[in-house]
Amino acid sequence: MDTPATSAAQIARSMHAMEMSQTETFDATEFRRALGSFATGVTIITTLDADGNKVGLTANSFNSVSLNPPLVLWSLAETSASLPAFRAATHWAVHVLAADQEPLSSRFAKRGVDKFAGLELDTGPDGIPLLRGCTARFECRTAFQYEGGDHVILVGQVLKFERAESAPLVYHSGRYAHATRRDDSLKPRSAYLAGSFNEDFLGYLLGRSHHQFFSKIRSHLDHEGLSDEEFYLLSTLTLKHDLSASELDAGMAGVLDDHSSSALQSLIGRGLAQTLDGSDGKAFELTLEGRACALRIISAAKAVESQLLERLGPGEGEVLKSLLNRLLSATDAGASALWQT
Ligand SMILES: Cc1cc2nc3c(=O)[nH]c(=O)nc-3n(C[C@H](O)[C@H](O)[C@H](O)COP(=O)(O)O)c2cc1C
Repeated sequence: MDTPATSAAQIARSMHAMEMSQTETFDATEFRRALGSFATGVTIITTLDADGNKVGLTANSFNSVSLNPPLVLWSLAETSASLPAFRAATHWAVHVLAADQEPLSSRFAKRGVDKFAGLELDTGPDGIPLLRGCTARFECRTAFQYEGGDHVILVGQVLKFERAESAPLVYHSGRYAHATRRDDSLKPRSAYLAGSFNEDFLGYLLGRSHHQFFSKIRSHLDHEGLSDEEFYLLSTLTLKHDLSASELDAGMAGVLDDHSSSALQSLIGRGLAQTLDGSDGKAFELTLEGRACALRIISAAKAVESQLLERLGPGEGEVLKSLLNRLLSATDAGASALWQT
């Protein structure tokens, strides 16, 4: 390992002096909160300890340092159980996590568990474990180590890297978040009527998106001989094995109202739904035929969904769904209660 130009002890002394003068003037929780306002990606950093055991932890302190030579850094808490392994390691690997790897991040942020259990691994320089499915991976040789207050700063020279087109996992204000690019080309234009139903109006966007989506699956509904009302009922009945009349009512709220009972009778008449055995007609379920019909429509609708979401960037479909879910959970108790069953 190379020795840095400034002595580590010198840096540690001046950091300590700074720390002493400032802890008196600000609150530690507020300081953490202020640091948390800097949005970052999330990484897992892995190595081997002196006995050849696999070691790794979640870290968001990762950053680039230099392009030529290629250097990256991250900082490791003095309290971390992984500290002895990383202090002695000649090599380590940084894995930039993809949006769907939040469970892996949580696993590697815990202490005293077998973090690598059941994972498929590759092997890097000096036998270090490499994780798969990440959005980027950097295999590094330890270049420098510095004392950094209650952390050790590790600088690595990148020997090899890989990159994928997946959306990254983001961390902001102590929570996982989504990254989505801004579309600066979509500036609201001035319209003929002030405040008109344009692309700056949520209701217009939701209504028009709904229309676009349904125009693409309507031919499948026609093929099954289902009206819109019957389809809404059929799809609500897929959410739970048996639905009481009041749950069905809540699930359909604002969509069908008066028409629901005739649409329900039509589904029952065609053998797609039935009242529950032993019930007094106040609970409903899909028949086998009804389930088969629902599955055919769901697979066609999923195909339409994939085609539409291909128009967005990686991970952006998840962002769209997450925001709509939050909006509906906050405004439509009937729907969100059914999703939770
Ligand atoms: C999003 C996130 C980012 C983190 N970043 C760091 C970091 O940069 N450095 C660090 O030492 N710990 C960081 N941690 C905490 C460690 O992952 C955690 O303390 C872990 O238990 C350490 O494992 P170990 O004690 O087995 O080494 C982070 C945790 C999370 C959830």
